[in-house]
Amino acid sequence: MNTVLVTGCSSGFGLEIARYFLERDWRVIATMRTPREDLLPASDRLRVLALDVTDDASIAAAVAAAGPIDALVNNAGVGMVSPLEAVAMDQIRELFETNTLGTIAMTQAVLPQMRARGSGVVINVTSGVTFQPLHLMSIYTASKAAVNAFTESLALELEPFGVRARIVIPGRAPETPFGANARSRMGAELPQAYAPVAAQVMARVSQQGGEITRSIDVAEAAWRAATDPAAPMRIPAGADAVARANAGLR
Ligand SMILES: NC(=O)c1ccc[n+]([C@@H]2O[C@H](COP(=O)([O-])OP(=O)(O)OC[C@H]3O[C@@H](n4cnc5c(N)ncnc54)[C@H](OP(=O)(O)O)[C@@H]3O)[C@@H](O)[C@H]2O)c1
Repeated sequence: MNTVLVTGCSSGFGLEIARYFLERDWRVIATMRTPREDLLPASDRLRVLALDVTDDASIAAAVAAAGPIDALVNNAGVGMVSPLEAVAMDQIRELFETNTLGTIAMTQAVLPQMRARGSGVVINVTSGVTFQPLHLMSIYTASKAAVNAFTESLALELEPFGVRARIVIPGRAPETPFGANARSRMGAELPQAYAPVAAQVMARVSQQGGEITRSIDVAEAAWRAATDPAAPMRIPAGADAVARANAGLR
């Protein structure tokens, strides 16, 4: 039986990915900063473990407790919508600690066992913002574009050992709490010069309609990455992300 460890399972995509793999008879290690047993259906194939991807001791404890892992899904992430000028470097470092370094640290922690077994897959969830530059997203986009580049390069060095790495690229998913959390990271002191563009961005983000990504799209893409060795390196998830990828946007 295969085992997947998923980061950031308290809500949104991570929760759906854990549910999806559980329904398909995988062993699932659902990790959360604050573990909750009531979010997923009870199963003897499910373990809920504490994990904060910015904390080395937490990573070491979770990976040791998990046992052999066939697929790692680095899903935990936070957003930020803000002009660069309006955020403190501490906030920027905090975002990179989670989105970029957290992904790298988790990958480093599971690789030795995958390499030793000669199998395994690392699946990194990035974002459709890396297809196309958007206003007020410079920090978030940089944190996710770095993961795209990291994954593509890493895949080359892991190939000889039978270990794969893939990127799942979701589009905009208003159904998860992510957008509200990202907007709360808008700098408190917004310089007046940015007010018009901030108003435009907020209006666009809260707009209804248009193609979107659902959590199930992301779960399906993660499943494809885990189970299909022929899956492409970059797997767009959601109608909007697929459309952007097909349009050849970066
Ligand atoms: N929703 C979108 O529009 C969208 C689009 C493209 C890509 N994404 C990406 O998809 C991923 C999941 O987003 P989502 O939409 O499902 O948002 P979400 O519901 O807010 O989920 C984010 C998850 O990350 C966890 N997390 C945050 N910091 C963490 C840390 N230090 N250690 C461990 N877990 C941590 C959160 O846990 P807590 O409950 O403890 O905070 C939560 O479980 C993120 O990487 C995000 O960047 C989202």
